[in-house]
Amino acid sequence: MNSEPDFTTIKVDVLIIGAGGAGLRAAIEARSLGASVAILSKSLLGKAHTVMAEGGIAASLGNVDNKDNWKVHFADTYVEGVFLGNYRMSEILAKEAPDRVYELERYGALFDRTPGGLISQRAFGAHTYRRLCHVGDKTGLELIRTVQEKSVSSGAKVYDELVISKIFNKNGRAIGALALSMREGKFYVFSAKAVIVATGGLGRIYKVTSNSWESTGDGHSLAVRAGAELMDMEMVQFHPTGMVYPPAVRGLLVTEGVRGDGGILLNNKGERYMLKYSPKKKELDARDIVARANYNEIIEGRGSEHGGVYLDISYKGKKFIMEKLPSMYMQYKEFAGIDITKEKMEVAPTTHYHMGGIRVDPDTTQTRVEGLYAAGEVASGLHGANRLGGNSLADILVFGRRAGKYAAEYALKSTYLDVDEVEVKDEIKRVSSYLKSGEKQNPYDLIEKLRTTMSEKVGIIREEKHLKEALDIIREIKSKSGTVGVPGGLRFNPGLIACLELDNMLLSAELLVNSAIERRESRGAHARKDYPDRSKEFMKNFIYEYDGNKISMTTAPVPKLPAELEELIPKEEVIG
Ligand code: FUM
Repeated sequence: MNSEPDFTTIKVDVLIIGAGGAGLRAAIEARSLGASVAILSKSLLGKAHTVMAEGGIAASLGNVDNKDNWKVHFADTYVEGVFLGNYRMSEILAKEAPDRVYELERYGALFDRTPGGLISQRAFGAHTYRRLCHVGDKTGLELIRTVQEKSVSSGAKVYDELVISKIFNKNGRAIGALALSMREGKFYVFSAKAVIVATGGLGRIYKVTSNSWESTGDGHSLAVRAGAELMDMEMVQFHPTGMVYPPAVRGLLVTEGVRGDGGILLNNKGERYMLKYSPKKKELDARDIVARANYNEIIEGRGSEHGGVYLDISYKGKKFIMEKLPSMYMQYKEFAGIDITKEKMEVAPTTHYHMGGIRVDPDTTQTRVEGLYAAGEVASGLHGANRLGGNSLADILVFGRRAGKYAAEYALKSTYLDVDEVEVKDEIKRVSSYLKSGEKQNPYDLIEKLRTTMSEKVGIIREEKHLKEALDIIREIKSKSGTVGVPGGLRFNPGLIACLELDNMLLSAELLVNSAIERRESRGAHARKDYPDRSKEFMKNFIYEYDGNKISMTTAPVPKLPAELEELIPKEEVIG
């Protein structure tokens, strides 16, 4: 008798894993080309982490500062990535973002307006001009709402509350994935001609993070196990301002829009310390600089009551704040009992974004596996060592569209390859093996230990000694992870999901820490106490691959900037 649960097969041209902005934008494009599309969502549709990019979409419309254009946006993006990024991706982003914003408006997004009726644009850190097209402080929410409606009405089929455990690779081609429906407790094989990974980041491997519960590095793990490469895993962005109090909301994002609209940072002496750290750009310098300044003030004893610093926008008055930052008002009022129109906020750095991820072709978003594409935060290359605020929403629209286009074009000229039944059954067996009675290791204990380790030892300032300690702990957790298990069945069993996530989190964490040790320099978001300077020798990307047994790392020089783009880089910037 077959004791393993059965599965149902669904065939589709383009399978999209992830229902954030990148996945949904990809779906719209693939549908427009006539491909059938299935979108797999880990949570309920509309709840993706995209909503946490609150302050705006970076696009050089030039509505507020008419000198803005794609060339300046390109240079800002490439320079802030500290020359580790892929120039072609920065170029594509800067050139295509305006079209994607106007298109989003045509789909139904309601942007804030200038007095003259144009899409309003606000200032954000290290953008030369006011460039962030916004909807108050709910831009990500409006984006998701819009692309969700458009993708569903275009005929993409959505399957939500699914966890994906494997992408199948046959003869070097991605041919589908295995999913467990949490709602039904049933397995599905999605047989596809092309697969797009758009699962977002891995912020949940840290204890203090702005990321929602889905961001456990699932896509990284699925892709590398299916034959794709991962790149620059060490590059983690710490947003300067997350909530610090009460403990239940520690890490929750406080949008950069607060500083963009005039908010100032103060220490417990009332000093506006950014005047010292960055006299020219002050609170609107790049995120790594402001985050490290906040961290420094805190560890040197000039922090706030609950271990943060102060962010003050109250001087702007209630009318302005309620119009521009309504979510921030509600967030502080409801969670902390603070009225930000009268009082200062307490904030501290929070793990926000992962610049590293799946290595993709800059134009097509294809990984090195035929038929396998990646877009959005899970993909690497665009942001280099540091991401500009607002470039993530631009990224998901620009590269989400490209992923949908190239995946659909590939799918429409390809045939299905059947997923091997034995492989499916083996994978179902692996997933089901976490359901155990008797003695077992609790996955939550291991996840808690991993997250604490990452926040304490692989944070905003890194050092070899602590990184090596972290690696030892991760390997110790890994050695225990084989014995994790939970009681109960396949249906709505969060413990089972935690077991699967733990595997993904450990893989991402190990590669991240390994790369952080190897990068013996400080560049962008990767700051080493023991190697405080940037080194030209490290103008290279760290690349990981998996041969089915073991992970190995190689390096590749950063693609060389062509002369016509190099001309756009301000003269005072030293490339290296
Ligand atoms: O601060 C923010 O609103 C975040 C935006 C982003 O990460 O792009």
